[in-house]
Amino acid sequence: MSISSRANSLTPSLTLSIDSKAKAMKAEGIDICGFAAGEPDFDTPDHIKAACIEAINSGFTKYTPSSGIPELRTAISEKFSTDNKLDYKAHQIIVSNGAKQSCYNAILATCEPGDEVIIPAPYWLSYPEMVRLAGAEPVFVPTTEQSGWKMSAEDFENAMTPRTKMVILNSPGNPTGAVYTREELEKIVEVAAEEDILILSDEIYEKLTYDDAEHVSVASLSPEAYNLTITVNGFSKAYAMTGWRLGYLGAPDSIAKAIDSIQSHSTSNPNSFAQKGALAALKGDQQPVSDMRDEFNLRRDYMFDRLSKIPNVTAVKPLGAFYILANISRFSLTSQNFADRLLSKANVAVVPGIAFGDDRTVRFSYATSIDIIKTGLDRFEEFCRSV
Ligand SMILES: Cc1ncc(COP(=O)(O)O)c(C=O)c1O
Repeated sequence: MSISSRANSLTPSLTLSIDSKAKAMKAEGIDICGFAAGEPDFDTPDHIKAACIEAINSGFTKYTPSSGIPELRTAISEKFSTDNKLDYKAHQIIVSNGAKQSCYNAILATCEPGDEVIIPAPYWLSYPEMVRLAGAEPVFVPTTEQSGWKMSAEDFENAMTPRTKMVILNSPGNPTGAVYTREELEKIVEVAAEEDILILSDEIYEKLTYDDAEHVSVASLSPEAYNLTITVNGFSKAYAMTGWRLGYLGAPDSIAKAIDSIQSHSTSNPNSFAQKGALAALKGDQQPVSDMRDEFNLRRDYMFDRLSKIPNVTAVKPLGAFYILANISRFSLTSQNFADRLLSKANVAVVPGIAFGDDRTVRFSYATSIDIIKTGLDRFEEFCRSV
């Protein structure tokens, strides 16, 4: 049977492979400290669940408009205006099955064979594969700890060619936890605007920023930025709703229309009653969001403090999301090799940085309990001392 070149071009997910190894070990009764999670360990707040259950019970179980129910699109429009100083009308908003689908739709609607898409590395592992699925080519801009894992406007400009169609920004970022400042974004936008390069701004970790870091929406920076940017966000990380599969984007009219069309012919509407839950998330009490953020903040402080005291390991203190990227290059092992050994010898699961395009690092998630973080870091420290 022949598989399409499109499918053949994809790299199997390394996050899933380490995860399945860790799960198999757990099933054998081995006590694993898992730092590979990409989702909050908190439960979805009760009022969100209740709204969804109420929707099911009242028969809200049929197709909805493919871009989402009008009241949710309106609530998202209000959220963009209040939180992000962004003026997206409801018709410019498309609700999808997760921010992942929003990103994919955005790339499919704008990129094609011959186009290049600039992606700062380390990156969220799905971006390059989405670009390849669209027939376009990812172009990576490596970043370093010294720059706080951030791409400068100059790095961006140097990576541009006449074929550059889009740049993908993800602040706060996975896997680095980096948060771009307003000034840094302004400079990047200036470069993009000179050549009319589209910006896919994935702001899914918006609500998780720490210390004095400020989340800035790229499209809010100027009219030029607004016209070039597709802003992606979702419910997974802010409201602990990963399994609900709900994300959204705001985009200039013509792009939103194209995305609407793609979605209507591929997946149709996101789940009807989940949308009612999402509406409750936006309209309801936001205290659970800040409680989760505060708990993540405590864990971040603890984890960073411990990691920075381990010989031969370095890390940049993240200002957002729930990950710390630890540089383990002094051990002279590939990140995959390091992560495999760490799992089999110390029962600690991390994600090898190669999955994110950086073989010098491994990613720790602190979306797990402080007890597991403490035990896991004890084991990690001992492992590092013995390598
Ligand atoms: C940077 C980034 N964007 C998008 C997503 C996907 O989010 P969703 O669950 O809404 O599809 C993730 C999930 O890990 C992510 O880390």
